[in-house]
Amino acid sequence: MATTQPIVPHHVAIVMDGNGRWATKRFLPRVAGHKQGVDSLSRCVQACIDRGIAVLTVFAFSSENWNRPSEEVSGLMELLALSLSREVPSLKANGVRLHFVGDRQRLSEKVQAGLAQAELGTSANQRLVFNVCFNYGGRWDIAQAAQKLVDSGQAITEMSMDRAMALAHVPDPDLLIRTGGELRISNFLLWQAAYSELHFSDKLWPDFDAAALDEAIAVFRSRERRFGKTSAQLNSQGNTQQEADAQNMKAA
Ligand code: FPP
Repeated sequence: MATTQPIVPHHVAIVMDGNGRWATKRFLPRVAGHKQGVDSLSRCVQACIDRGIAVLTVFAFSSENWNRPSEEVSGLMELLALSLSREVPSLKANGVRLHFVGDRQRLSEKVQAGLAQAELGTSANQRLVFNVCFNYGGRWDIAQAAQKLVDSGQAITEMSMDRAMALAHVPDPDLLIRTGGELRISNFLLWQAAYSELHFSDKLWPDFDAAALDEAIAVFRSRERRFGKTSAQLNSQGNTQQEADAQNMKAA
């Protein structure tokens, strides 16, 4: 049993699943579930700040979500635009630095401009790095990183790939949570989650509250992170979170 885990993980990543089921259970359109999902996300950001978590990365729209019914896709696009105008001022005031991660080319020019403006407007903030993965896929990320290296004539190594990935500005996630009861990664952070601790919650995303986050953190703290080593090695070397962080840290 590891006793050296930090009180909170440095970087938490979340697959926010279950909005549709939350709405369907209430005879509401699926988009109503996504709206509740934004409220839940806003509370989660605050809970992360309160707990001293440094990085939060969430999966808001996957490369595959374009295949959903068109009214749901347009509802999610509208929600993104609405969330930018509603949420960014308080994120800014709360010390949150926003990054949008994913392929922006398919988004409207107006939304693209809104994302860039939100990133610029929060770029001096340092309390929480908040990565919103939108039109993101783990395979897309690996492919775009490899293409970047090919285009610039660099050798493909783990380190050069790390630097070319869309989340190169943060260490890899320590804890990856998926809500909604499904036991899948669903093309999220395929490269970066190599050594993340996984936690699956049965709660639907709109119901995921601070207590559920605390439960995930408690599970994380009970895990022994070995990074390929044996338990005996860790105990004899007194493995600390600093070592874990060092292994995870990008050579940026
Ligand atoms: C998965 O639940 C959730 C999504 C595809 C969207 C997640 C988006 C949010 C939480 C809102 C934040 C979004 C923006 C635009 C900032 P699901 O719809 O697959 O749920 P189900 O499995 O119950 O059908």
